Amino acid sequence: MLAVALPCLTAQQSGTCAPCHPKEAKGHAQTLMARTLEPGGQASIPGSHAELRLKLGSFSYRIYRAGGQDRYQVSDGTSSMEGVVAWAMGQGAAGQTYVLEREGKLYESRVSFYNDIKGLDATLGSPAGVPKNLAEAFGREMPALSVTECFQCHAAAGPAAATAPAKGSLAWTKTLVPGVQCENCHKGAWKHAAARTAGDMKSARLAKLKDASTEEISDVCGVCHRTWSHIQLNGPRGVANVRFQPYRIVMSKCYDAMDRRIGCTACHDPHNRPEGVAVNSDPACLGCHTARAGGGPVGKVCKVGTNRCASCHMPKYELPGSHFRFTDHFIRIARPNETYPD
Ligand code: HEC
Ligand code: HEC
Ligand code: HEC
Ligand code: HEC
Ligand code: HEC
Ligand code: HEC
Ligand code: HEC
Repeated sequence: MLAVALPCLTAQQSGTCAPCHPKEAKGHAQTLMARTLEPGGQASIPGSHAELRLKLGSFSYRIYRAGGQDRYQVSDGTSSMEGVVAWAMGQGAAGQTYVLEREGKLYESRVSFYNDIKGLDATLGSPAGVPKNLAEAFGREMPALSVTECFQCHAAAGPAAATAPAKGSLAWTKTLVPGVQCENCHKGAWKHAAARTAGDMKSARLAKLKDASTEEISDVCGVCHRTWSHIQLNGPRGVANVRFQPYRIVMSKCYDAMDRRIGCTACHDPHNRPEGVAVNSDPACLGCHTARAGGGPVGKVCKVGTNRCASCHMPKYELPGSHFRFTDHFIRIARPNETYPD
């Protein structure tokens, strides 16, 4: 049994860690990652719009809040299909997709919200063009495996995971702690918290990630942002892989698997990411590209720019259909009109 009392499973895991790690707990709860999954009825985007609407061919979509639920409806003019939003996935920096419940089954919504257009459009990865019939217009029925995959990247197992219902079921999703939680990056965190709270200082020790190599951190993040080897083996090739940073960054001459100055956490603090504030990577770049000042290997110095290094050396690409410009982590001298280097 676990000694930690959890007031409510939908609370963030950080509440459990806060008494002992207040800094990480406070910052983490504010990140987009921590908030990337919201229960239907409490989803912030449908909550802040009276109604979301879209017309796709002859199909009309509506997402609206009624009776404490977020509801999703598609009509072809004569008949309509309606479902309840079980979960809203994605905080919407790029977009938000809905996991719908209808007659005991789960569906991925055919349309998603996109921040760039402040409205609905076809879900990324859905079949191109206008849906053939009402059922197709509604969304894609999600097999248990697909549900499991989505939720393993957008939520964390709760402290009583071993007794949870079958993976991929709606009941299972409700046992998860929504959002990317401490446990996702610090494996064994629940057990550690329970042991420390009970005064046991010996068992359930966690790995100290501050001491992990750049490659090891890439693999922690790569569980969801995909690892180098996953993309190398399975693709995709071409611009579709721009969103997989652990793969792209390895192509840079800057990359050194053992050098922490080019690890993900040199530019991103996983415990603190003020929303709307652009990442400032200049200190990281200048950690290496500076005139020799003693200590550590140094790189060449730029003759063109002195700040906002990423704006020239980490170009942005829009993925077709995503309404979002991803930052290429292949750091390089990007020439005008070059083809996407892959
Ligand atoms: C009752 C206090 C307590 C609670 C609650 C607690 N920790 Fe800890 N944690 C510690 C102590 C003390 C250490 C120091 C090293 C050790 O004993 O493992 C530690 C170490 C760690 C480390 C390794 C860092 C290092 O310096 O060795 C991580 C990561 C960590 N805790 C994360 C968490 C997370 C995540 C939670 C919540 C799920 C949590 N802790 C809950 C007390 C606590
Ligand atoms: C359990 C899966 C998971 C892991 C592990 C993970 N991420 Fe994420 N990350 C996500 C998801 C999902 C989003 C999308 C959040 C949203 O809805 O906007 C995201 C978004 C981000 C963003 C963009 C949003 C922001 O806050 O700026 C950054 C940067 C990021 N992750 C960095 C990292 C780093 C660095 C690591 C490793 C230390 C990491 N992630 C590990 C799932 C994960
Ligand atoms: C292997 C892990 C993984 C799986 C599986 C996964 N996602 Fe994600 N998802 C991420 C990461 C990482 C991000 C943030 C970076 C990006 O957009 O690539 C993200 C971003 C998103 C976003 C945009 C978030 C935003 O605020 O910008 C949506 C919407 C989304 N995912 C929905 C889904 C749905 C629906 C499924 C299942 C059909 C799914 N994801 C499966 C890891 C995953
Ligand atoms: C997205 C991944 C991610 C999440 C989520 C996350 N951490 Fe961390 N955490 C890291 C990484 C990576 C480091 C190492 C930081 C560095 O490189 O300086 C770290 C470092 C720490 C440390 C310092 C000890 C160490 O391991 O080096 C503590 C304590 C800690 N995290 C606690 C927490 C707590 C508490 C939560 C949840 C409230 C949390 N973390 C959520 C990735 C994460
Ligand atoms: C860990 C140290 C390190 C960091 C951090 C780093 N670089 Fe580099 N970078 C190098 C090394 C080593 C090379 C190889 C050439 C050299 O000696 O400068 C290189 C090469 C380059 C090149 C030339 C690439 C080419 O195709 O010839 C550019 C441009 C560059 N870096 C820009 C950046 C920018 C911008 C950042 C921050 C976003 C950055 N670097 C961060 C070490 C680093
Ligand atoms: C040298 C600095 C640097 C390093 C190292 C770095 N990033 Fe980034 N990252 C950036 C910049 C700059 C952005 C653009 C953010 C912005 O415009 O605010 C970004 C954006 C992102 C985003 C948001 C999506 C996007 O394309 O804008 C994710 C997710 C992300 N990084 C993940 C990672 C992961 C995972 C790693 C480790 C493999 C990593 N980053 C390493 C500088 C860095
Ligand atoms: C306005 C765009 C711009 C900005 C901002 C910029 N650079 Fe550059 N950088 C370039 C261009 C263009 C080149 C290639 C020059 C050439 O063809 O010799 C270059 C070349 C480089 C090189 C290779 C130098 C060599 O001798 O081979 C490095 C390293 C580099 N930049 C790093 C940086 C760093 C670090 C920053 C931020 C402090 C930065 N750059 C800011 C455009 C920029």
